[in-house]
Amino acid sequence: MALLDVGGVTKRFAGLTALDNVDLKVEAGSVHSIIGPNGAGKSTLLNVLTGSIKPDRGSVVFDGHGLVPLQPYEINQLGVARVFQSPEIFPELSLLDNVMVATFAARDGSYKLNLFEHPSRAGELRQFAEEVLVDVGLEEHLTMPAKHLSRGDKRRLELAVCLAHRPRLLLLDEPTAGMSQTETHSTVELLRKISATGMTKIIIEHDMEVVFSLSSRITVLHQGRVIADGPPAQIREDEAVQEAYLGGVHL
Ligand SMILES: Nc1ncnc2c1ncn2[C@@H]1O[C@H](COP(=O)(O)OP(=O)(O)OP(=O)(O)O)[C@@H](O)[C@H]1O
Ligand SMILES: [Mg+2]
Repeated sequence: MALLDVGGVTKRFAGLTALDNVDLKVEAGSVHSIIGPNGAGKSTLLNVLTGSIKPDRGSVVFDGHGLVPLQPYEINQLGVARVFQSPEIFPELSLLDNVMVATFAARDGSYKLNLFEHPSRAGELRQFAEEVLVDVGLEEHLTMPAKHLSRGDKRRLELAVCLAHRPRLLLLDEPTAGMSQTETHSTVELLRKISATGMTKIIIEHDMEVVFSLSSRITVLHQGRVIADGPPAQIREDEAVQEAYLGGVHL
């Protein structure tokens, strides 16, 4: 059974059908990309998954839970997290403290922090926070206030904060947008490394190199409809995709 099962999701904005009867199955442990031209409905679909937009019709089932009636924070508590839009970075706190806050929040529920109640576990959680920072390549700046980070490193910290919640499904909307080639490359490496942990991911991305190098499966949206769905090799050869997505230019 798929970890995430979207069935017949439709969303209209005034006269515009942003999502038209969309089906999507995401297998546990996969890296599933959603691609399509501007305005195809990709971000709207992600917003439906996080609960920030409610569909007019259709179902979203995550690990047996129907998500449509749930509030965004409830969906987040079930383990669905969105990266790179995290409001949870505290600029004056050190990197380690930023991740520690997220780690405690993950354990105790949102921001019911009680640092003194479990002194023995605090050490354990600190170790976990350090490991997460090592994973994203920020181990050299553990005690530096977050405000001093470069833009690229700030994104790494946002990812670390997100990972500290130990999500089961990670949603990324254009993780390399606005990045230099070098930053894009290191972000891809980072995402690949997280893939190795088996965390399920949905990625929206315009950079085809990123898409084809990371994805185990790709769904193509065009004008709110799914026009193709399959492994990368199949999508690369798909004529409807060539036509709709790139106007006949080969991927
Ligand atoms: N809140 C909203 N109100 C009205 N129309 C909206 C709203 N959000 C999105 N739309 C419209 O719905 C369509 C799909 O938008 P969406 O942002 O999902 O596309 P996208 O595939 O993410 O595009 P891009 O690649 O440019 O990010 C667009 O025509 C957009 O203008
Ligand atoms: Mg978008």
